[in-house]
Amino acid sequence: MKKKLAVVMSVLLTLGLVLSVAGCGTTQNSAKSNASNTKKKVGIIQIVEHPSLNTIRDSIINELAAQGYKDGENITIDYENAQGDQTNLKTISQKFVNNKYDLIIAIATPSAQAVVSETKDIPVIFSAATDPVGSGLVKDMNNPGGNVTGTSDRVSAEKIMELAKRITPNIKTVGALYNSSETNSVAVIDNLKDYAQKNNITVVSATVTNSSEVQQAVNSLVGRVDAIFSPIDNTIASAMPLVAQTANKAKIPVYVGADSMVKDGGLATYGINYTILGKETANMAVEVLKGKKAGDIPVKTMTDMDIYVNQGTADTIGVKLPEDVLKQAAQVFGK
Ligand code: TRP
Repeated sequence: MKKKLAVVMSVLLTLGLVLSVAGCGTTQNSAKSNASNTKKKVGIIQIVEHPSLNTIRDSIINELAAQGYKDGENITIDYENAQGDQTNLKTISQKFVNNKYDLIIAIATPSAQAVVSETKDIPVIFSAATDPVGSGLVKDMNNPGGNVTGTSDRVSAEKIMELAKRITPNIKTVGALYNSSETNSVAVIDNLKDYAQKNNITVVSATVTNSSEVQQAVNSLVGRVDAIFSPIDNTIASAMPLVAQTANKAKIPVYVGADSMVKDGGLATYGINYTILGKETANMAVEVLKGKKAGDIPVKTMTDMDIYVNQGTADTIGVKLPEDVLKQAAQVFGK
């Protein structure tokens, strides 16, 4: 009887020990997860995959790490891509807001518009918004106020057209290829229309509302224009190889808003460096993570512009790139 009791006792003791060890483990685990809960959460939202936006995203994440903010170590970075879909943009924005992220970085105008309409409290830093005021992101570039600031990649349609005329001087009609619901594009197209009016150039518009309409829009310009102009448009950029294929076959020069669109087969641009823009965006993010109010940071516009050309495209469409243009170019793609 005594022996039995001793056995039962020792079983109970062992059980107790096991339980308390397990309990101990649990305590440790919850301490650990509490620690990770205090890590600041940064949400990055991107409208669509295209090379320029991917460059910006990578540059932001690399620069944050370079400044000591490493994903999984001292901050959590949650990256989401809306695959070009407005409904996804809303869902992702709401997820970041409802889960009380500490900072939201929105790459490109449509993402920024979606986030800004969901929160007036969480700091939002937009990246590469062409026209932050016209797009309703901020009221004043120098004094944004509220919870929003960011970087702008405003380019000049006039400067791009001046470059276009150095390469292909006989432009009488230009096709404007863009998504009319992207306010970032509309801003640049308005600038194109002003330039065209002053220079006796006719603008033929070919607008799309999503990437599935791009092919048809390009087709509609073939035979009617001397050149195609496409601004910093996310929908066109994501379908740029297709645009280039059709236009280059028809031997129409395509002038664009960004270097990546030249790399993907456009003929030329006068544009900004998106790796630098990504770094500037990360600098702002660091300021906010350190406690500064987003609205107290002025919107940053990139002032350094460079010429980018595509030699392969020039060869395909039978255009000779002038020596001085080639000399000035920051990068010659397609050699
Ligand atoms: N400026 C665009 C916007 O406001 C985003 C963008 C950045 C972009 N780089 C680009 C669009 C290159 C097309 C191509 O949404």
